[in-house]
Amino acid sequence: MSTNTDLPDDENNHLFEQIARDIQTDGYSVNTNALSNLLNNSLWRESQITPPLALQQANIGRNADRALNATVRNDKILWIDQQTRTGTAWIAWADTLRLSLNRSLFLGLHSFESHFALYAPGGFYRRHHDAFHGQSNRLLSVVLYLNQNWVAADAGELVLYTGPNSTTELVVKPELGTLVVFLSEDIAHEVLVTSKDRHSIAGWYRTAPHAIM
Ligand code: OGA
Ligand code: MN
Repeated sequence: MSTNTDLPDDENNHLFEQIARDIQTDGYSVNTNALSNLLNNSLWRESQITPPLALQQANIGRNADRALNATVRNDKILWIDQQTRTGTAWIAWADTLRLSLNRSLFLGLHSFESHFALYAPGGFYRRHHDAFHGQSNRLLSVVLYLNQNWVAADAGELVLYTGPNSTTELVVKPELGTLVVFLSEDIAHEVLVTSKDRHSIAGWYRTAPHAIM
């Protein structure tokens, strides 16, 4: 697959180094305008044309525990695969980030999975962690926003609970091109009630299955 949708290598490297530094010191990283315009716009277009009926109701938990729980989250999702050029380009980009973080932080990230998510007006995702020690090999979470000209009244912000006791609230506007990366077990977070259709991609890097302890 061509990598012409990527930023030039030195720009990607700058971003990836920044993410590595942030993860090491804070456990999270927030970056605006993270992707090339081309990849950003392709993902934005794909998120807009995806028919909502093709989206599945997102589930909570894993495997046998999976239970539909609309009191916790009520977004709809569509897993991203390599059936489209855009999906392929996104997965290729995520892989370059994976390799870079493995080199700089020795995280041992092994695989990546991601989905589009749509929160309709009234949509939210209550405070949660993406992984619990010993229960999941999700190590690093990635969220990319796909909303143009998001204003304060649109709400639907991401809140990251950071700091020593997870009491500091960092509010992130879900604006197109903003990329959030955080340690899945460490950073509690929440999607506030949105008043407009809110598009994003959520993804997770996993360690190899045998690495679960
Ligand atoms: C998730 C999640 C955040 C967002 O899907 O686990 O926390 O802002 N998403 O879409
Ligand atoms: Mn989450």
